[in-house]
Amino acid sequence: MKLAVLTGAGISAESGVPTFRGSSGLWKTFKPEELATPEAFKNDPKLVWEWYDWRRAIINKAEPNKGHLLIAKLEDLFEDFLLITQNVDGLHQKAGSKKVVELHGNIWRVLCTACGRRYYDYRVPLEEIPPRCKHCKGLLRPDVVWFGESLPQEEWETAIKFVKSCSILLVVGTSGVVYPAAQLPLLAKQGGAKLVEINPEDTPISEIADIMIKKKASEGIEEFIKLL
Ligand SMILES: NC(=O)c1ccc[n+]([C@@H]2O[C@H](COP(=O)([O-])OP(=O)(O)OC[C@H]3O[C@@H](n4cnc5c(N)ncnc54)[C@H](O)[C@@H]3O)[C@@H](O)[C@H]2O)c1
Ligand SMILES: [Zn+2]
Repeated sequence: MKLAVLTGAGISAESGVPTFRGSSGLWKTFKPEELATPEAFKNDPKLVWEWYDWRRAIINKAEPNKGHLLIAKLEDLFEDFLLITQNVDGLHQKAGSKKVVELHGNIWRVLCTACGRRYYDYRVPLEEIPPRCKHCKGLLRPDVVWFGESLPQEEWETAIKFVKSCSILLVVGTSGVVYPAAQLPLLAKQGGAKLVEINPEDTPISEIADIMIKKKASEGIEEFIKLL
């Protein structure tokens, strides 16, 4: 049995990290869709970095919840396992997950727009906004994937290859509207996998799911483990 797990912002909701689409996703008067774009960063890097500084502070205080911990345990139950996350918060790794592919980057990593170097920077709050590269003083950006940008190629290829040949794809806490990640459930079905979804709300994925567990992530994953 080959298990793939795809997670979205919903898995971290119980850790107190706001999702994008819930009402708690708003910062000041801005919607995430207005800030998580290359255009927003070009127009006002300071504003975008202030938002990231706020999000980093929330994530810094958050601990992995039962859902993250149970997913880390699933990795031991299945010889062939891959966790594909759209989250940038690093909470899966903090919970002990090792076989993780980050499709949308990591909020603790910065990318220099001048020299192209990437490195981790865990400072909260940042000393200067926008922050500057420690190597060349160039303007840094968060090393995350914004709306309209393509996914890191190696991660995406790893995810596709695994999902196409898995026996089960477990999808947890994703709205299923952010492409291309939202393509993965369909690819899994086409490859013959059983699709299990955990989400308190219906999503476009629900229509093609074999099993829908309409619960919060922690309770839903517990139920999934019992079904195995
Ligand atoms: N924690 C994070 O790293 C974080 C937080 C917000 C957004 N994001 C980014 O935002 C993008 C948005 O897409 P998305 O689909 O991941 O998130 P989303 O915000 O679009 O959707 C969140 C989904 O989680 C569900 N949900 C809410 N509470 C839940 C719970 N307790 N248990 C299970 N499900 C719950 C909602 O019904 C919704 O379908 C992603 O690319 C991701 O990188 C990441
Ligand atoms: Zn640099």
